Amino acid sequence: MKGIVLAGGTGTRLHPITKAISKQTVPIYDKPMIYYPLSVLMLADIKEILIISTPRDIETFRTLLEDGKQIGVSISYTIQDQPLGIAEAFIIAQQFIGHDTVALVLGDNIFYGYELDVILQEASQRKSGATIFGCMVEHPEDFGVVEFDTKFNVISIEEKPKVPKSHFAVPGLYFYDNEVVEIAKNITPSPRGELEITSVNNEYLRRGKLKVELFPKRVVWMDTGTYKALLKASNFVEKVQTTQGIYIGCLEEVAYKKGYITKEQLRGLAGTLLSTEYGTHLMQLVMGDNNGKF
Ligand code: G1P
Repeated sequence: MKGIVLAGGTGTRLHPITKAISKQTVPIYDKPMIYYPLSVLMLADIKEILIISTPRDIETFRTLLEDGKQIGVSISYTIQDQPLGIAEAFIIAQQFIGHDTVALVLGDNIFYGYELDVILQEASQRKSGATIFGCMVEHPEDFGVVEFDTKFNVISIEEKPKVPKSHFAVPGLYFYDNEVVEIAKNITPSPRGELEITSVNNEYLRRGKLKVELFPKRVVWMDTGTYKALLKASNFVEKVQTTQGIYIGCLEEVAYKKGYITKEQLRGLAGTLLSTEYGTHLMQLVMGDNNGKF
């Protein structure tokens, strides 16, 4: 399975923070926002990743993440000229996807939870249809919303409905078979002129091939669209990392635990970051496996 991180958009809701820089490079506590969704693809066992961003910002991501080899994955880059919708990513990425299945994660979505990796790996192993998720939220009107019938079967997904039919929002993480490319090419733009991911999901639903998995309560999904949401996400990451010692979105750690990089490589990466707690955490991982000796 291939993976795409969509890190485009103008970030207007976060101006002036994002007037000159990409939203997905803004820090969430101790690391750039894009680390979090990228780590989600890695947890899903996806090693071939395409980052799509704006002509202005693409080089920033290349500087930040390089070709991915340092964390044992392959990262390539391409641009979305105009913010014409999430589903356009599949048209832009057609060559990259080839005949594979593909996952898409939005560059501003953060996920965390015990055994999240199990949920992700199950989704990434499915060869046919689409898997999306549902997450209970207070303000569903800001998202794609799942509509259920009385037997809890999904009957539609609505994009930012004024009167939401449930409290289950669809987070920005989607797993598709190869038909997604053809589906994305055939959907019509919404009134706001975008190729909506919700239209893609509704087409899978129409074909009887949409699986909506409701996240268990132990999985946390955070949107980072507003100043308050940014601060909340930073506070959450700080709290989990400091009180539980569990790092969220730590690419080097995921790479090491998955066996993509050796202990020596991890030591090398940690060595360049030793003036930070992040680097210290990485070095502790090296030591933990080494009877406490460097
Ligand atoms: C997009 C999607 C929406 C989804 C949300 C998740 O909205 O269109 O269906 O629920 O991402 O973050 P956006 O936040 O880009 O407007």
